[in-house]
Amino acid sequence: MPNPEALRLPEELLLAGAGVKSGFFTALRDGQKTLAAVAEEIGADYAALERFAEALAHLGYVEFSAGAVELTATARRMLFEPESADYIGYAFMHAYSRLTTWLSLPEVLKTGKALAKKERSPERLRYFMDAMREHARQVAPAVVELCLEGLSPPLRLLDLGGGPLNYAVPFARRGVSVTVQDIPEVVELMRPLVPSGLEIRMVAGDFNVSLAEGPYEVAFLGNITHIYGPEENQRLFARVARELTPGGRITILDYVRGLSARAPYMGVNMLVSSVSGGVWTVDEYAAWLASAGFGPVTVKSVADRQVLLAHLES
Ligand SMILES: C[S@@+](CC[C@H](N)C(=O)[O-])C[C@H]1O[C@@H](n2cnc3c(N)ncnc32)[C@H](O)[C@@H]1O
Repeated sequence: MPNPEALRLPEELLLAGAGVKSGFFTALRDGQKTLAAVAEEIGADYAALERFAEALAHLGYVEFSAGAVELTATARRMLFEPESADYIGYAFMHAYSRLTTWLSLPEVLKTGKALAKKERSPERLRYFMDAMREHARQVAPAVVELCLEGLSPPLRLLDLGGGPLNYAVPFARRGVSVTVQDIPEVVELMRPLVPSGLEIRMVAGDFNVSLAEGPYEVAFLGNITHIYGPEENQRLFARVARELTPGGRITILDYVRGLSARAPYMGVNMLVSSVSGGVWTVDEYAAWLASAGFGPVTVKSVADRQVLLAHLES
């Protein structure tokens, strides 16, 4: 049903996004300051910053006391305290960055093609990693459980596009030897963050070209099949099949068209931001998997995302 309530400016996202982009939040990270000091530090116009800070105070991000401004305890936990259950860091900046991409939708509707992609800046890459962490936080334990159901170590698992490590770490904590393959810039950023003592190997490389050599008992494809189209996915599944042990398991986590309420939005998100990406039905997945030699597919839902699971047929 159309929702007139949703037809408003996403003011909080725009204000908090500007709080990050302008350096305002970072300037307050170490404690309270006068607004004049913050204005000087971040190169802002004082009167504009005053109006901006007032709006953020109204939303509960900052508070004023004795002529100074500071983050509220809630905002501090949310932005800067990774140990807190409320922590999201700058994960929302991924949504903020996507606003401009989504504004191209009317143009994309005419051409059917996303506008040419700009290089992802290191800053945007970090926001993306934060967003992926948030995205996985609630579901990772249940997803890992489903993917390993009925199996026990020793297991070798290939985690394709697993650079953010949100699944690799819980897999490895279950005693699985994990090989993560991701693009070089992500591997470079994340390799130093692999927790010590866990068996996680980071391999840089385009999985549409070749895979880190196996064999593996399990492959995990988390949120990558929406980035690519039918041809790439079908070829990827065939490549995965070649690296699995006989009877090996492929597990796919994504928004499945027709099953997930988020899938239509992800479909449009891919329309404006990718060359061939989209959301795919269970039947499409089953056909690609069958052509790569996999047997029947089982589908389970976790928090509106689906886990598809199939085994190589001998
Ligand atoms: C949407 S994120 C998903 C991350 C993680 N698997 C998860 O579910 O949280 C997609 C990941 O796949 C990686 N990726 C996309 N295309 C790739 C390719 N062709 N080769 C290797 N990695 C790729 C991206 O760098 C990114 O880390």
